[in-house]
Amino acid sequence: MKEKIEQILNEVKNFQAENKEALENFRITYLSKKGIIPNLFADFKTVAPELRKEMGMRLNELKNTVSAKVEEQLQRFETQSSSDAGFDMTMPADEMKGSRHPLSIVRRDINEIFEHLGFTIAEGPEIEDDFHVFSALNFPPDHPARDMQDTFFITKNPDVLLRTHTSSIQVRTMEKQQPPIRIIAPGRVFRNEAISARAHCIFHQIEGLYIDENVSFADLKQTLYHFVQEFFGEGTKVRFRPSYFPFTETSAEMDISCNICGGKGCNICKHTGWVEILGCGMCDPNILIASGIDPEKYTGFAFGMGVERIAMLKYGINDLRLFFENDLKFLEQFELS
Ligand code: PHE
Repeated sequence: MKEKIEQILNEVKNFQAENKEALENFRITYLSKKGIIPNLFADFKTVAPELRKEMGMRLNELKNTVSAKVEEQLQRFETQSSSDAGFDMTMPADEMKGSRHPLSIVRRDINEIFEHLGFTIAEGPEIEDDFHVFSALNFPPDHPARDMQDTFFITKNPDVLLRTHTSSIQVRTMEKQQPPIRIIAPGRVFRNEAISARAHCIFHQIEGLYIDENVSFADLKQTLYHFVQEFFGEGTKVRFRPSYFPFTETSAEMDISCNICGGKGCNICKHTGWVEILGCGMCDPNILIASGIDPEKYTGFAFGMGVERIAMLKYGINDLRLFFENDLKFLEQFELS
């Protein structure tokens, strides 16, 4: 009997079920009422009394080994079937799926260019108050940009609203920090505009602010010129046109030579060869004073651009709504990771 038990023990240890059926057969062969193990227990009566203790232990060991084997193999099939169904979350991925959203790519690239120039990224809340979006930026109390048509108000008196530009982050930075200040402020902004191919009520901006001693308009021009060469490619031309913003004096808008047609004239540049990409100017002394910065000692410049607009120009996209529709055929055209 001893040899028999040893032999069966060996067989059991080496057993690998090919499928669930084979495992069930194995279980029946050994453990069912008339199976091998109950039979061995039945034969136990015939064992000589002096050998009973050892044989009893051996038999129990065999029974436990068979039960453990059945349990182990059953588990193997269960984890296998869940991974067949694609649910094994522990498996490493062999291929990257998905691509970056074009707005994320453009925001990342713009941020990087300014970070290389020593700008740091600043953030602020999307829900703002009148002071940080308008008053501190020198908007007169009756300025039309505060009007309900442009701004989404959450409450009136006190005015709580969705920021219409990320200039509010610049105000918050100036409140906290004395110059030198060199920040860019990326973020989502909200304006009460009808949705069309060229406008949306939610879009993204990247604004910049540089304040230090002796900052001049030449610094502003050179910084933005460098940005354009890096982002749109060497040889892209720029031009500045006089403009007006309440918080800058002198103010300008910057155009670049149309990168879709190379300046020859096309639909995107309305056949002028130029496209506007941002607003900029020297900080008005009033906004420095409002934030506790001495305008006799410090000067600065600021600029602001729309990320959607830059992305449209970079990729030749003619409808801004595409960025928000999440159409896979559109999104799959952009780079991975
Ligand atoms: N805040 C302006 C806008 O939203 C952009 C701007 C920023 C213009 C800084 C000049 C200087 O249109």
